[in-house]
Amino acid sequence: MIEENNEIILKNYRIKIQTGLLHQLEEFIKPLWSQRQVALITDDNVGPLYAATVEKQLNKMNYKVVVLTIPAGEASKSWRQVQRVIELLAQNNFVRSDGIIALGGGVVGDLAGFIASIYMRGISLIQIPTSLLAQVDSSVGGKTAIDLPAGKNMVGTFYQPDLVLIDSTTIKTLPKRMLVEGYGEIVKCAALVGGRFWAIVQRVNEPEDIIRQAEKLIYASVSFKAGVVQQDEKETGLRKLLNFGHTFGHAVELLEDGRLMHGEAVAIGMVHVMAVFEQKGMTVSGTTAAISERLERVGLPLDAPELGTPAFYRAIQHDKKIRGDQLTLVYVKKIGEPAFFPLKTAELKNWLGAAI
Ligand SMILES: NC(=O)c1ccc[n+]([C@@H]2O[C@H](COP(=O)([O-])OP(=O)(O)OC[C@H]3O[C@@H](n4cnc5c(N)ncnc54)[C@H](O)[C@@H]3O)[C@@H](O)[C@H]2O)c1
Repeated sequence: MIEENNEIILKNYRIKIQTGLLHQLEEFIKPLWSQRQVALITDDNVGPLYAATVEKQLNKMNYKVVVLTIPAGEASKSWRQVQRVIELLAQNNFVRSDGIIALGGGVVGDLAGFIASIYMRGISLIQIPTSLLAQVDSSVGGKTAIDLPAGKNMVGTFYQPDLVLIDSTTIKTLPKRMLVEGYGEIVKCAALVGGRFWAIVQRVNEPEDIIRQAEKLIYASVSFKAGVVQQDEKETGLRKLLNFGHTFGHAVELLEDGRLMHGEAVAIGMVHVMAVFEQKGMTVSGTTAAISERLERVGLPLDAPELGTPAFYRAIQHDKKIRGDQLTLVYVKKIGEPAFFPLKTAELKNWLGAAI
């Protein structure tokens, strides 16, 4: 704990973004972690691509490494995998002074983070996110989770890692649809921040440009998200900004029943919530088109047939992010000027009227 200027900093950690970082782990990990056992948790897509590179360097640093591989995919965010991994940690005599490294996308990060937060009441954690979504979103903010049959991310903790290491070159091996999905999250942040960040997004006119501009895009997104999270760790106020596009997006995602990826649904949600505010004269004219263009250039979807249907309103009523009978729509008055619009859930349909 650090005490400074009447402020108490409970946990302070570094997020390093650098091309080729995956080959320079010693410089960052060794000063932080004393000799210990390390569980390298990865999945069966990422493991074959990157685990050997990481393991080799950890061995060179004299850590005793155990590689634990989970099946790739959302289904691994389960009690079954929690139990399996925790039992493997126990069988290998992991103690609280040992450590976990999460090497993978958001699924590995969420699961390994959750396990790190509960094994022996908390064991040290380093995140090495390899998907674009994990690099710009899930590895920053300390949220961990697994899913229940009743819903995604229903069980979880807030648990901050000791270090986050982001090597943007890993996104070169991502399937294109996942690369583009992660970029949707970046456009969302850029629209909220505006300025230089929005200018970088203007340079992305095809999916390959995401890779060309990756380091700048990731840095801008992470510094925005870290700033928000630092001010609002437990998501009570400012962090709600990050829900831009989520109210409509979640509903569409649910109704499309697995056909849309989360980031694709959020892209649709952003465009349509903006169209509503623009029609009502609460947003500078042309802002919706500017956001749509950025998303469309990389092939993100902008529309879904469910928008405005009775099922759509029912899905919004059941959104777990909506507290009581009140919801808050996030929009931008213009690029870089976000705003909140609180509304009674029951009044949403009337308020939207023909605008959706
Ligand atoms: N904790 C948070 O704050 C937070 C925020 C947003 C999303 N999430 C969670 O993150 C998850 C989604 O993240 P995701 O999209 O990274 O999913 P994911 O981990 O399933 O990764 C997507 C796919 O890409 C593969 N992959 C990852 N990196 C790769 C690489 N470099 N090369 C080739 N393949 C690679 C994975 O094996 C997987 O098949 C969801 O479970 C979501 O709930 C968490």
